[in-house]
Amino acid sequence: MNSTAIISQTADYIKAKLSGEGSGHDWFHVERVWRNAVHIGKQEKADMFVIELAALLHDIADWKFTGGDDSVGPREARAWLEQLHVGENIIAHVCEIIKDISFKGAGVTSAMKTREGMVVQDADRLDALGAIGIARAFAYGGLKGSELHNPGVAPVVHASFEEYKKGRGTTINHFYEKLLLLKDRMNTTTGKQLAERRHDYMKAFLDQFSREWEGRS
Ligand code: ADP
Ligand code: NI
Repeated sequence: MNSTAIISQTADYIKAKLSGEGSGHDWFHVERVWRNAVHIGKQEKADMFVIELAALLHDIADWKFTGGDDSVGPREARAWLEQLHVGENIIAHVCEIIKDISFKGAGVTSAMKTREGMVVQDADRLDALGAIGIARAFAYGGLKGSELHNPGVAPVVHASFEEYKKGRGTTINHFYEKLLLLKDRMNTTTGKQLAERRHDYMKAFLDQFSREWEGRS
């Protein structure tokens, strides 16, 4: 099978699997990440086949929905790609990206190992920022039963992935624990540029949120 057919079959498979998901990890999220990854990848002159497969498969089984197990995603991605007879080097590369891509906590430095990984991580992170990022944060917080905001609960700088996974903070704190930190952690020049506007929009949202919380207009 040629690479165009592999990409399109993978897109169909993920679309069927994630359509209608309600926490912001749905097919439309994957489609936006895929599009952003292609855009950034072209500027970075990276291997587009690996980038497209990793973007499409990155949320196939997110640890947030597998009881914290981050080995399920790479395993499911591998089984899918083996069935399509994709070469082992490519499978290993795609699975490594899926394993490493997730944010692991503000105090944890986890670098992507390849240029392709950097591109896909930037594309995924862009979708956690801006207006869509705000919508996704509250959708996810709602699913987990998090409070919107609680002035008595301070943001936490999680020192390990284990601690971050167990965190049960408020959704407003999630902006300070992760979302506002992403702009300075983007890997590529293109990703950094695209993050600016979305970052500023989230800051404006948080300012207005505080104003309203304090009873101002
Ligand atoms: P990551 O790969 O970093 O885990 P995903 O693409 O899987 O990111 O999406 C994570 C989405 O879920 C983001 O939009 C993020 O803001 C949201 N999210 C993750 N943890 C929380 C949380 N504790 N509260 C609110 N939103 C969260
Ligand atoms: Ni994602």
